[in-house]
Amino acid sequence: MENNKIKKIGILTGGGDCPGLNAVIRAVVNTAIVKYGLEVVGIRKGYHGLYHSDFIPLTLESVQEILGEGGSILKSSNKDNLFKYPVRDEDGEIVKEDGKIVYEDVSMTGVENLKKEGIDALFILGGDGTLTSGRDFSRLGVNVVAIPKTIDNDLNCTDYTFGFDTAVSVVSDSLDRLRTTAKSHGRIMVAEVMGRGAGWLTLHGGIAGAADVILLPEIPFDIKKVAARIKDDFAKGKDFAIVAVAEGAKPKDGEIVVARVREDSPDPIRLGGIANVVADQLEELCDNEARATILGHTQRGGVTSAHDRVLSSRYGYAAVELAMEGKFGNMVILKGDTIGYASLEDVIGQENKQVDPNSELVQVAKSLGICFGD
Ligand code: F6P
Repeated sequence: MENNKIKKIGILTGGGDCPGLNAVIRAVVNTAIVKYGLEVVGIRKGYHGLYHSDFIPLTLESVQEILGEGGSILKSSNKDNLFKYPVRDEDGEIVKEDGKIVYEDVSMTGVENLKKEGIDALFILGGDGTLTSGRDFSRLGVNVVAIPKTIDNDLNCTDYTFGFDTAVSVVSDSLDRLRTTAKSHGRIMVAEVMGRGAGWLTLHGGIAGAADVILLPEIPFDIKKVAARIKDDFAKGKDFAIVAVAEGAKPKDGEIVVARVREDSPDPIRLGGIANVVADQLEELCDNEARATILGHTQRGGVTSAHDRVLSSRYGYAAVELAMEGKFGNMVILKGDTIGYASLEDVIGQENKQVDPNSELVQVAKSLGICFGD
């Protein structure tokens, strides 16, 4: 589409929420209205709102005072994949056959709703699940611009997603808090960190929070090596330990710990519980009291960090520029300190970005004396 044909932008936030969503929305609305005189429409609850035509106008007033606020003024949903949508009966109940949910492809309803609303470009703020649908809408001819959102930092083609920095600070702060109580009681404290199959949040948060042990999905661990390290520290006079374990970490001879399966979600596996397993094992092997803390959704909530406010503002601005240049089917990215863009086909068409066990940051951590249990 020619850039001068863009008159109205629709914007949605999908998947798990994340600090910085409101900062991106604010930047998009300000740039689109002030610089280009466009109209902006918010689509509520992600693809749910696209399916149900739940649109609200976004004005300069609607994005005032939201820069630092976590969450999304548009709300979010991580269950509404319009390409695989649960069929419902007349009472609104999900239809099952042989115990399995029956799905249908309702994506064309979304496309039609965009047309009816006169939306020329669809801005999608999401992680890999939401952006997989974004790529698929792009393949259907929708003018998609994507913006990389997730505390997990596991999206390809970009160095950093927005929300990650805020979550790293939460992890670091939590480890600081666990340290003072660990010291008082001479305990081993095990903190479980989000991130699904990627260890970015645990690695950065663990280094920032001075963890003694960091356990990542990318480096299967031997619990006996972790215990040996802690016992060695204790023998030298230290009487507490801080362990940061990624929710997707797994022992060399074991499996990841699944908390629940959400059948109606594009990514049905919810991880959780590895911290309890690790704490129990360390208590026994080290003959020392241990406690587990699952940091959970505290990592996604609260106030957005200054760094994420700036990154989100840059992403929002760049997304409008991309739309005005007619470069659709792309995601805005950060490489080094330069904002650019990459095709959604490349972002989605490969495994999620993981920590390289031989990377500089892992070497830094090891040289700081951090044990990875490998
Ligand atoms: O992808 C973001 C994330 O917070 C993951 O780190 C975590 O595993 C998952 O979402 C939790 O999802 P939910 O909010 O559905 O429990």
